[in-house]
Amino acid sequence: MTADGHDDWADRRRSLRSAVTELSHRNRQTGWAPWCERHYDFVCPSFGTYPFQWFWDSCFHAIALSHLDTERAERELTSLMANQHDDGFISHVTFWQREQYEKMLSTYAIAYRTPWLSNSMQPPVLAEAVASVADRGRGDAFVAEVVDSVRRFYDWCDAARDPDGDGLIAVLQPDETGLDHSPKFDAYLGVHSEEHADFTAAWHRVADPYDEHDRALDVMFSLDRFIVEDVMVNTIYAENLRVLASLLERSGGAAAAGVYRRRADQTVSTMLSRCWDPDRGLFFDLAGADEHWLTANTVTSLFPLLLPELSAEMVRRLVTQLRDAARYDAAFPVPSVARDEPSYRPGVVGGSLVWRGPTWLNANWYLARGLLRHGHRELAVHLVDRSVALIERSGFREYYNPETGEGHGAHDFGWSAIALDMLELVAPSSQQE
Ligand code: GLC
Repeated sequence: MTADGHDDWADRRRSLRSAVTELSHRNRQTGWAPWCERHYDFVCPSFGTYPFQWFWDSCFHAIALSHLDTERAERELTSLMANQHDDGFISHVTFWQREQYEKMLSTYAIAYRTPWLSNSMQPPVLAEAVASVADRGRGDAFVAEVVDSVRRFYDWCDAARDPDGDGLIAVLQPDETGLDHSPKFDAYLGVHSEEHADFTAAWHRVADPYDEHDRALDVMFSLDRFIVEDVMVNTIYAENLRVLASLLERSGGAAAAGVYRRRADQTVSTMLSRCWDPDRGLFFDLAGADEHWLTANTVTSLFPLLLPELSAEMVRRLVTQLRDAARYDAAFPVPSVARDEPSYRPGVVGGSLVWRGPTWLNANWYLARGLLRHGHRELAVHLVDRSVALIERSGFREYYNPETGEGHGAHDFGWSAIALDMLELVAPSSQQE
């Protein structure tokens, strides 16, 4: 029996490890891409719906793989960085083998830089993924090989996505947050239904004018059609800048590390001063050139729990939300939208609209870590227990019903394997086996 009262962690980890091993074989994509003359080796999010390499999915895949096979975890990341653009940008999708899936591609709403590379970003999880893979694998040798690419990517984030210089980076279309149809964007996007077609039309209203100007960044910002300084994206950004700083420190770049720590400090201090609503006890995204709040209570409002400098009062308010059955304390937490929001839908909605209520395991991974950082171990353990229970009950699905635990969306969904890393957080293997 462990201190947490979970005497079955070791058994659960053994089953989960073997399930993740199978999943990572099933979803593996390897081959040679003539368009860039490179080999690729990555885990796709799901063969049925997402056979390509997605940015933040791949980072989560690498973290899961780092527990099983560090060589493959390295290749996941080197494949992701292989087609980095000269300006440091890394596309949110690399369509390595697009010719095999032309029909599927016609169903996507995605902006392209080239036929093989998308022209949008995703939450910048890269430094965390590199650190995980290095820590369990070749350590500093791997860091030394990739740190320059990683640094150039975060320099791109700063140069391209923070034109107002407040330390918060902006996304320019909803899918750049990775939270495509979150109801927090509904009013801003002018969507008033739960029909997929209406979201696609709204996406085109944002993205088509960008295309008319070749997606020149200054024009995209000046159009002021969709500019969101998203709380989740920026929490992840700040965390990753700090991880990048420590990667630099261990690879001979200590002098440069200060730049990234200062950027992270500014990101955090702006978020604390501009995004925190003391009345509701939540953080809200800033939208538009006028930086108005997007005020729906969604899981991203809780993400700053990850930040070490959060005040005790802010932590208390966010934890209260997590413990509140009317909001986030569902049978299988954490719902992506608070249960008392009118837009909350625990199951499938609009065919395949995402992030409108179901539980996603990558969000739980961040929240569990935030809880641990602020000493809420019991709640973190509960979240890990429930997350692993979702996989035990319903397999690796894209998202889950927070009330029933039923799985929805894509099957064999790669990033749900992040639960393996969650288990390590609360019950490290060394203590068990
Ligand atoms: C959906 C998700 C996005 C994810 C992609 C591939 O578009 O909203 O976050 O990266 O699927 O899994």
